[in-house]
Amino acid sequence: MSKLPLFLLVLVPLVSATACGPKADSPAPEASSEPAAQVVEVVEEALVAVAVLTPRAGTEVAGTVTFTQTGEGVVVAAHVSGVAPGLHGIHLHEKGDCSAEDFTSTGGHFNPTEDPHGGPNDSIRHAGDFGNIEVGADGSGHLELLTDMLTVEPTTETTVIGRAVILHEGEDDLETQPTGAAGARLACGTVVMEGLEEVPGMEEIEVEEESPNPEAVY
Ligand code: CU
Ligand code: ZN
Repeated sequence: MSKLPLFLLVLVPLVSATACGPKADSPAPEASSEPAAQVVEVVEEALVAVAVLTPRAGTEVAGTVTFTQTGEGVVVAAHVSGVAPGLHGIHLHEKGDCSAEDFTSTGGHFNPTEDPHGGPNDSIRHAGDFGNIEVGADGSGHLELLTDMLTVEPTTETTVIGRAVILHEGEDDLETQPTGAAGARLACGTVVMEGLEEVPGMEEIEVEEESPNPEAVY
């Protein structure tokens, strides 16, 4: 019984001595806490864009595609439902105009580097080449990929904002030029900043003043 208080008395001075030692000798602990604070800041300011897919008349396709800016590039995450099972080509097309019935108003695959069509893992490809989304027997599918060829920041040349995601009826063969022979356009969604309901025109975005702190996004 009397041993416990004694034990504590010995431990407490030991612990406080080691905790104080390094702090008094060098400013190391302060320096290492700084990067952690910056990481938190970047996460809070993460830029996210979203495209909600509209089905071609006569189909019941639905879906959402989100674009999240990270330090390594943009994470693209797509969820679709109401689609025939199998592989379906999915791309980011140049123009965010889903007004045509067949969605040809979105133009071709977004291709700022003027490279040939390819698959999402090819080093030479269109920036908008996301390959295929695999749809299961229940009609739903999910695709997630990371790309360094796109950005979310609206003022950058490679931005996804104001473009359109197209889901195709067929499979992208990842090589036929310039479309991957993925067939008709099944669903279309204009990419907007998350939280915006209106579809901003590209011209409007271009005249907007520059980002308040362009250096904050690395
Ligand atoms: Cu396409
Ligand atoms: Zn392409």
